[in-house]
Amino acid sequence: MAIEVAGIFKERKYPFIFAFFLLLIFVTFLLISNSQPPISITTQLTQPDPLSSTPPPVSSASRHSSILSNNESAITNPPVSSSSNDGSPSASTRSVAGTDNGERVEIGAAAADEEDDQVVWELCKGPMAVDYIPCLDNMNAIKKLRSRRHMEHRERHCPDPNPRCLVPLPDGYKVPVPWPKSRDMIWYSNVPHPKLVEYKKDQRWVVKQDDYFIFPGGGTQFKNGVNHYIDSIEKTLPVIGWGKKTRVILDVGCGVASFGGSLLDRNVITMSFAPKDEHEAQIQFALERGIPATLSVIGTQKLTFPDNAYDLIHCARCRVHWDADGGKPLMELNRILRPGGYFIWSATPVYRDDDRDKNVWKSMVALTESMCWSVVAKTYFDSSQIGLVIYQKPVSSTCYQNRKKSEPPLCDQASRRNISWYAPLDSCLVPLPGDSPKWPSSWPERLGDKPRSLSAEVDAEETFKGDTTHWSALVSEVYLGGLGINWSSVRNVMDMNAGYGGFAAALINQPLWVMNVVPIHEPDTLPVIFDRGLIGIYHDWCESLNTYPRTYDLLHASSLFKNLTKRCDLIEVAAEMDRILRPGGYLVVQDTIEIITELKPVLKSLHWLINVHQDQFLVGKKDFWRPDAKIRV
Ligand SMILES: *[C@@H]1O[C@H](CO)[C@@H](O)[C@H](O)[C@H]1NC(C)=O
Ligand SMILES: *[C@@H]1O[C@H](CO)[C@@H](O)[C@H](O)[C@H]1NC(C)=O
Ligand SMILES: *[C@@H]1O[C@H](CO)[C@@H](O)[C@H](O)[C@H]1NC(C)=O
Ligand SMILES: *[C@@H]1O[C@H](CO)[C@@H](O)[C@H](O)[C@H]1NC(C)=O
Repeated sequence: MAIEVAGIFKERKYPFIFAFFLLLIFVTFLLISNSQPPISITTQLTQPDPLSSTPPPVSSASRHSSILSNNESAITNPPVSSSSNDGSPSASTRSVAGTDNGERVEIGAAAADEEDDQVVWELCKGPMAVDYIPCLDNMNAIKKLRSRRHMEHRERHCPDPNPRCLVPLPDGYKVPVPWPKSRDMIWYSNVPHPKLVEYKKDQRWVVKQDDYFIFPGGGTQFKNGVNHYIDSIEKTLPVIGWGKKTRVILDVGCGVASFGGSLLDRNVITMSFAPKDEHEAQIQFALERGIPATLSVIGTQKLTFPDNAYDLIHCARCRVHWDADGGKPLMELNRILRPGGYFIWSATPVYRDDDRDKNVWKSMVALTESMCWSVVAKTYFDSSQIGLVIYQKPVSSTCYQNRKKSEPPLCDQASRRNISWYAPLDSCLVPLPGDSPKWPSSWPERLGDKPRSLSAEVDAEETFKGDTTHWSALVSEVYLGGLGINWSSVRNVMDMNAGYGGFAAALINQPLWVMNVVPIHEPDTLPVIFDRGLIGIYHDWCESLNTYPRTYDLLHASSLFKNLTKRCDLIEVAAEMDRILRPGGYLVVQDTIEIITELKPVLKSLHWLINVHQDQFLVGKKDFWRPDAKIRV
């Protein structure tokens, strides 16, 4: 080496030496700069906020850069900041600044704050990405299914690992039409799926008019409009008492949810559901209209509702073969129907005479008799040329015991799974409580009265009453006025950890509806929620929810994340919340300052506007930002 160097000097290769030194300097520079934390592109593009009164704090937040392709640090150790940013006086200055118009939040300070903690997001790819529903669009899993006979391909098959991409917006996406106008018209560009217009042309489910879809209230069985149909039902069986006795109902295969939408005027809340199928986007239409709806299917698994929940179940030509598989689908309805509750079946076997319909009817008669359901009405409406039958579920097990044959058998309660979450359908009847169960009080008293399914523990009632008072006060004193939320833009609300449904109950007089989610790892309070006259589902927030992107205006998460992040990664949950939430929508988190500190940088990396109030409420507002919009700058 030395010889060679000497040779180089001897041979006067000065240009080579010069180049060698340049290289050395360059390499040294690279080594030094690599030992610094990575700085992401997004950070550099964020403008400092001139309104912020906070001096750029010296961030002691741990340097966890959670970059998509780098899977370790973010998953196992979400950045728990030891910085006192939020506990310091500057935090309260921010809150005050935020409440006066609700929009002036510290995004600039945020960028300075956690510039090392940015998560770099990517858009979901593919032609279906704008409507991506991870657990229903998992084509790899669906292709591997051995059977589709029982709609297995419409059931949940969640990708593993969870996706971390963000769904793109449809071209021309606009802030949704506000409620109540949205019930009758929505932006075409927000749900640009014209198939249903063609497919159901004669039935006037939905019509395209200029930039809008219009919903005239038609439906296969609603030839004189849905209101007329609803009136006919109550005339047929007055004891139904819409909005008083009958409050919580399920609409199976609901079309564009006009039935549920119309019943809202009568104080009836309807969970409408349908699978994601060739009736393109019907549930997406429903939610865009501001009508409660969810994607689900009666296939091989139980619906994610508790036993004895619904006052009434409705199916108008809903394309479920109730008598298939020894009647398992109908036994599932029996499970979730309240004792004494009604099933309205409006379908051709009830009123047509061709052989096929007659056979279905015969088999339905045998099945319903074996389940002790009684026919309380059967009718044909000349004016609309449709007919329906109304069955009633028994109120006690006496009829089951008096059957000649115990077929279907009674379920063995001890061996049943407690929560209907990925649970196979039963082929048995759930025994009914011995004493004649009382129907809940009339609506609206039902909301506050002691729910029947409240646990028998002595302090349960006290806890329930306390919970009601607590939420009522918190909602009126903090949520409605103190968090800078524009409630008149809020229609579809999800309580991600609903408990007894106290949050929903406190919002009952607002023009919105709440989907109450009881996470599968929390105590099972969903029966209480239904007893109160509210709707809800079970869900595991470590997986994606069965809903289209951009379907909720406000997500509420009270004390949810501590338990949740023990099992899954906060970043994935954030990606899912971003998927569900509409641009302009809110996330409201009530939690400890530790959780809020952990959540903040993740939400900021989504370019949400963040505001923290009283060290325990985090309000995030999603806007129209999508990753590529920035990176391409
Ligand atoms: C992510 O991390 C897990 C566990 O640390 C590892 O098994 C997996 O292969 C990693 N995936 C990628 C894409 O790096
Ligand atoms: C259902 O829950 C009860 C108590 O809550 C428990 O004892 C029982 O083992 C559970 N059954 C199943 C099948 O998980
Ligand atoms: C609140 O939302 C409504 C409905 O979207 C909108 O018309 C109104 O301008 C909003 N108010 C504010 C202060 O942003
Ligand atoms: C967390 O999970 C435990 C055990 O399931 C439960 O008792 C508790 O209520 C849950 N919630 C919180 C906030 O800890």
